[in-house]
Parts: sequence; C-alpha cells; structure tokens
Amino acid sequence: MNITFAAPASVTAGSWVVGGLEGGALLPAAISADKASGGALSRALKFARFKGQPGQMVEVLAPAGLGVSRLLLVGLGKPEALDEKALEVIGAQVTARLLSGGESKASFQIEAPKGCKVKKGEIAAHLAFGARLRSYAFNQYRTKNLAEYEQKLAGLTVLTPDPAAAKKAYAGLAALADGIFLARDLVNEPPNILYPEEFARRVKTKLSKLGVKVEVLGEAEMKRQGFGALLGVGQGSARDSQLVVMQWNGAKKKGKPVAFVGKGVCFDSGGISLKPGAGLMGMKGDMGGAAAVTGLMLALATRKARVNAVGVIGLVENMPGPDALRPDDVLTSLSGQTIEVLNTDAEGRLVLADALTYTQRRFAPKFVIDLATLTGAIVATLGFEHAGVFSNDDALVTRLLAAGRYTGERVWQLPLDPFYDKMIKSKIADMKNIGGPNSGAITAAQFLKRFIEKDTVWAHLDIAGVAWQDGEQRPMIPSWGTGWGVRLLNRLIIEHYEA
Ligand code: BES
Ligand code: MN
Ligand code: ZN
Repeated sequence: MNITFAAPASVTAGSWVVGGLEGGALLPAAISADKASGGALSRALKFARFKGQPGQMVEVLAPAGLGVSRLLLVGLGKPEALDEKALEVIGAQVTARLLSGGESKASFQIEAPKGCKVKKGEIAAHLAFGARLRSYAFNQYRTKNLAEYEQKLAGLTVLTPDPAAAKKAYAGLAALADGIFLARDLVNEPPNILYPEEFARRVKTKLSKLGVKVEVLGEAEMKRQGFGALLGVGQGSARDSQLVVMQWNGAKKKGKPVAFVGKGVCFDSGGISLKPGAGLMGMKGDMGGAAAVTGLMLALATRKARVNAVGVIGLVENMPGPDALRPDDVLTSLSGQTIEVLNTDAEGRLVLADALTYTQRRFAPKFVIDLATLTGAIVATLGFEHAGVFSNDDALVTRLLAAGRYTGERVWQLPLDPFYDKMIKSKIADMKNIGGPNSGAITAAQFLKRFIEKDTVWAHLDIAGVAWQDGEQRPMIPSWGTGWGVRLLNRLIIEHYEA
C-alpha cells in the first residue's frame, strides 16, 4: 500500500473517507461529501444508528453523481479523547473495512476537530500509520486461494492542510512500521525455516545495509568465552546456537549506549522436561523478545535515530535428545555463577543470563532492558493486556509506563524482593533455575537479577502474554505475531534518550 499526503482537493475516485464526531455532528469534509452526493450520506444516516463513536462506520456505495466507489463516514468519538493512538486505531479500522471491501484506492479527509490536541499535520500521519499497521499480512506459505488473500488497496492518500508536516511526521512512523513488520515476520515464521542461524543471517542482511554493525558469535566462539548457560540450552538441538550483537551509533557524541537484550528461543519444546502437546503449539514464537529487539534496531537505523543503541539476542532451539541438557545438570554461566537446572523448560532465563552478562561487560550501557516470552505465569497474572515489568530503577519504570500508555503497548510493574530471591536457592550450586509453584514470573525475574551487575540500571519485560495473539485481532495487529515492544521502546528512546 502506497501512502501519500496531499492538500485537500476534490475526491473523484476510490473511497472517500470522512469523519463525524460523538453525538453525530459531521465534520466539514463530510458535509461537502454529502452535498456533492446530492444528500446521499444524510439519507443513509437516517437508516443507520450513527452516533459518531470511535470507529463506527456508515458506508454509501456508488453514490449517484459522484465518481467515488464509496463514501465512508467514520466516527471519531470525542475530540478531547482523539489522541495519537485513537487516530491510529481509526486509521486501522477504516483500512480493515476497505481491505475486506476489495477497495483499490482511498482518500482520507478527516479534519482536526476543535478540541483535539494532536497537531494538524500529525493527525494525517497517525491515521496513515494505523492504516499501514493494518495492511500487514503474512501469506508466504499459502499456495491456494491466493485471490482471497490478495490486498487490493494499492493507494491511500491522506488529505491534510499541511502535507509537508504530515510527510515529515510520517517518515519516522513509516520506519517504525518497518521495524514492527520485521518483528512480526520473525515471530510468524515457522521454526523449521527460522532456526538460530537463519535468524542471524536475516539480521545481518536486513540491518547491515542500514548502517547497523552486526556481529554473530557461533558456538565455538561462545564456548571459548564461557557462555555455559546459553550453550547448555542449545546443546540438545541439531541447530547451532548464535549470539547476535547489533550496534547503531546514531548519536552525535560518543557515550554509553542504551542496550536491549532479547530471548530468542526459536522453538521451545521444553527439552527433556518436555511440554505437553497443547503447550508446544505456538512455541515458535518464543523468540518474540529477540524479534522485538531486531525490529527496534531496524526502526532506529531506518529513521536515523540520534541515539547509540545496542541490541543483543541469544538464539537457540530448546530440544530433547541424547545430547540435551538434563534436569539435575549444573551449568557455569558466563558470569561465573553456577546454575542447577531442575527444569529444562525454564530455559529462557539461562539464555538471558549469559546475554545480559555479555552486554553489561562489553558495553557498560546506560541501561539494559531485556524482553522475553519468559513465563506462563505472567500470562496467568496479566493476561494479554499488559507485559510485566520488573526493575531495579523506579525512574526507568515510570518512563516505560508512560511510553506504554502512549503507544498502547502497556506494561505493569511487579515486585522484586529478597524474599522471592530465597526461592531460587540451590542445594548444590549458586542457584537453581526454578522457584516454587507460585509467583513464577517473579522468581524468573529474581533469577535474571542475579546476572545484573552492580550499578547497572535494568528492566525486564516479560512479554509471554503479548508477543502473539490467539484470540480476537486487535485493529492494528492483523496477524498472530504482534511485533510487541518495538513501538514501546522506540517511544522510550524518542522521549528520553535522543539528543
Ligand atoms: N517460553 C516459555 C514461557 C511461555 C509459556 C511463553 C506460555 C508463552 C506462553 C518458558 O520457556 C517456559 O517454559 N516457562 C516455564 C517455566 C517453568 C518451567 C518454571 C513456564 O512458564 O511454565
Ligand atoms: Mn520453556
Ligand atoms: Zn521458553
């Protein structure tokens, strides 16, 4: 879908999308569309329960006397509530309708209602961003009924009094969408195709050309350096484990980078502590943290963000087999601390432990944020609406909470406490990799905290409930893989870490 911005002009073809407010009042473009159609819209409104609620739509197909294929009136709700996120959702909802209607071309003409705080040009940019996120599709493994899945909507023009401002605001959002799409693609890919080496190759090809420095550490190198925890997880797999390090240096000055670490378990069978059948489905998505870090790095490089950022992803496959890690094994992590493995399905924390140590020792970052589909317990706790955040720094949590409210990728804080730390004491090693039957998301976070070095500002995001969606589709997320985290962290950087 090609998106352009233009000054208001008469719409003569495709769908003409106009807006109305809560209570039913039509905005100026809707009034002129009504006039141009000889009152077709107001006649249709007599037979519709249009209240102008956000996303409510009334459609007039092929109005007489106009060249357009349809007039589409969309509710914007209350102007005060029409913020960036609300505009994006409306852009996405309209796009969903146009896609299902088989439309090939559309013009949005939605003016800034009085009381809306978003700047004029930016209104158009956020409508467009929502439309773009909705246009995502993952169909490369289909060979049949392709016509049914084909997207006809080739062109979207967003009419705005300030096309230059809209274009400028949209450039950053388009880069962000590219990052989100990459993250979604990676999560959606099946695990026989996207195994650690293939993931690493894709990072290299897609990010190197944007000026990101990409290094890949293979098993031999990691063994030499002592990544005992990460390698332990991958040892049962026929696929080699990888650590990928991405560096984007966009700040004008040198200085400590911000760092992001992602769990990249390309498939989590549970290992010898094998998951039951139902629990195995979807475990291709257990690299959602790594996907988000990769998507974020792509977005930052594409929009040439003025920040120094590092992304480190630990890529493994967790499989049973004669060489696999056993429950009762003891591993020596890169930090030197030993871990008694009592459940091989608690593997994500083992991967992160070494990736976190490596990131801190090599880069001494301003902060490190890890993202991981780490526990089923976080899904039991927060469901699908929030990711869990655990941190040793309240200021960073406050910033993440705010970025979450702005983007809709919301987070909720859960506690760290020495009491929970006691639950991972081992009888023979420095720690064990599981806590008790309760508070599983917290004991997992406590485990990670043991690998956070003195003075490192750290936050852990448990994204097990949000990295993919099985139930109802969200307006801006038309696929299983959500790309969750790219927007949140991009926003965090824009707000606080870009010079
Ligand atoms: N990848 C899973 C967590 C997960 C579960 C993500 C469901 C998404 C949906 C993780 O590696 C895991 O298996 N965790 C175990 C930990 C337990 C063995 C301590 C869990 O949550 O059951
Ligand atoms: Mn697991
Ligand atoms: Zn896992």
